[in-house]
Amino acid sequence: MLSRITGDVDAVETFLLSGVANALYYVVCLGVYLGMLVYLRWDLTLLALAIVPLFWAAARHFSRLIKAASRERRRRSGSISAVAEEALGNVALVQAYNRQGWEEHRFERENVGKFRAAMASARIRAVYSPVVEVIEVTGGLAVMGLGTWKLAQGQLTLGGLLVFLALIGKLYSPVRGLARLGNTFYAASASAERIIELLDQRPQVVEVPGARRIGRARGDVEFDGIWFRYPDAASWALSDVSFHVASGETLALVGASGAGKSTVAKLQLRFYDPDRGAVLLDGADLRDLSLSEVRENVAVVLQETLVFHGTVRENIAYGRPDATDADVVAAARAADAHEFIERLPEGYDTLVGQRGRTLSGGQCQRLAIARAMIRDAPVLLLDEPTTGLDVGSGRRIMDPLRRLMAGRTTVVISHNLLTVRDATRIVVLDHGRVVEHGAHDDLLGRNGAYARLHRLGAGAVLS
Ligand SMILES: Nc1ncnc2c1ncn2[C@@H]1O[C@H](COP(=O)(O)OP(=O)(O)OP(=O)(O)O)[C@@H](O)[C@H]1O
Ligand SMILES: [Mg+2]
Repeated sequence: MLSRITGDVDAVETFLLSGVANALYYVVCLGVYLGMLVYLRWDLTLLALAIVPLFWAAARHFSRLIKAASRERRRRSGSISAVAEEALGNVALVQAYNRQGWEEHRFERENVGKFRAAMASARIRAVYSPVVEVIEVTGGLAVMGLGTWKLAQGQLTLGGLLVFLALIGKLYSPVRGLARLGNTFYAASASAERIIELLDQRPQVVEVPGARRIGRARGDVEFDGIWFRYPDAASWALSDVSFHVASGETLALVGASGAGKSTVAKLQLRFYDPDRGAVLLDGADLRDLSLSEVRENVAVVLQETLVFHGTVRENIAYGRPDATDADVVAAARAADAHEFIERLPEGYDTLVGQRGRTLSGGQCQRLAIARAMIRDAPVLLLDEPTTGLDVGSGRRIMDPLRRLMAGRTTVVISHNLLTVRDATRIVVLDHGRVVEHGAHDDLLGRNGAYARLHRLGAGAVLS
C-alpha cells in the first residue's frame, strides 16, 4: 500500500508533468510538418504515411509487454519496502533469534526479483527502439525510391526532392518521440491501475446515508444476539452474545485467551459490523448512527498499546485535539503518569520514538490511560488495562482507573480480578459464547467457569 501511495503516484505524476507537455509539442510539430509535406507533394506524403499502421501495430504489441513488466517492477518495489519495513520494525526479534541471515536472504530475494523485472523491461525497450527505427528507415527509403523515380521521370526537381527528404526527417522525429512517450505512458498506466485498485477498495464499515446524530450519548450499551465472524475466518469469533450495560455501570468481560473479549471491544467501536444481531448505543443500532459520533462517544485503552512518534503531550492530547496543557497534565496525574513524565529529559515535550520505543511497556500503558482520560467520553473500553504493569503499578493504577470509570459506562476486559471486582456485572466468555453472567459473589457461589478462572490464579493479584 505504501509503495502504491508513494512510488506509483510518483510515476503517474512524472508522466503528467513532463509527458503531457512533450506530447503536445510532438503533436504540434507533427501537424505543422505534415501540412507542409502535403502542400509540397501529397503523393509522396501518402507513401510516407503508409508506415503509420506499422508503427501503430508495433506500439500496440510492445505496450502490452511494457505494461506487464512495469507492473511487476512496481509490485517488486513494494515487496522490497515491505520486507525492509518488517525486518527493521522487528529488529529486536531478528537479533534475539539470530535471524539476520534469513532477513537478508528475504531482502535479497525481493531485490533479485525486482532486478529481473527491471531487466525484462529494459530488454523490451531495447528491442522496441530498433524496431521503431527500422520502420522509420523503411518509410524513408520508400519515399526516396519513389522520389528518385519521379525525378528521373521529370515530375520532380532535385531541389524539390531534397526539400521533401529534409522535411521527412523532421516529420519522423516527433513520431519517434511519441513512440518513446508511449513507453512512459504504459509504464505510468500500470501505476495508475495499481492506484485505482487501491481507491476502489471499499471499507466494510460504511456510514448509511442520512446517519443519525445523537451528540453525547447517555452511554447505554447493549449487545443483542451478536454473531460475528472475522472476514475469511472459518469459525465464529462471537456466537449469540447478548448483554446489557446500563449507563454508568461497569461490565467485566473475562475468559480464556482467544475467547473473543477483544472482539467485543472492536464491535463496540464499530471496526466491524456483526453478521447477525446488533450493537446498540442508547438503544440505537450503531449501523444507523454517524460513524464519527459512535467513536466520539467511546474512549479506549486497547490491548496493544498504541503510541505515536511525537511528544508525550501530543500523545496524550491525541484523545482530544483541543485539550489545553492543564488538561494534559491533569489527565497524566490521574493516570499516574505525571511522575515518570516529569522525570523524562524534556518532560511533556520529550519525543517518544516510533511505537513508543523509548518508553517501557507500563509507561506506554499509562500514556494510553491518560489519553482515554482526556477524551472524557461516556463509554469506556478497557482491554487489559493492567497488562505490562508490575503488581505494584497494577495496584497503583487502580485508583486512576476507578476515577476514569466513575460515572461512565465501562466495559473492562481483564485477568486482574481487582478491576473485575468493581464491576456491576461479569460476563464470562468461552469460545465466543457467554457461559456465565452475573455479579462476582453470585458467580463464585455458582462454582462454575468464573470460579474456576478465579481459582486458577487469575485472582492471584488479589491475595
Ligand atoms: N483480525 C482477525 N482476523 C481473524 N481472526 C481473528 C482476528 N482477531 C482475532 N481473531 C480470532 O478471534 C478469536 C477471538 O479473538 P480475541 O482477540 O477477541 O480474543 P481475546 O479473548 O481478546 O484473547 P486474549 O485474552 O488473548 O486477548 C480468536 O480465535 C482469534 O484467533
Ligand atoms: Mg484480547
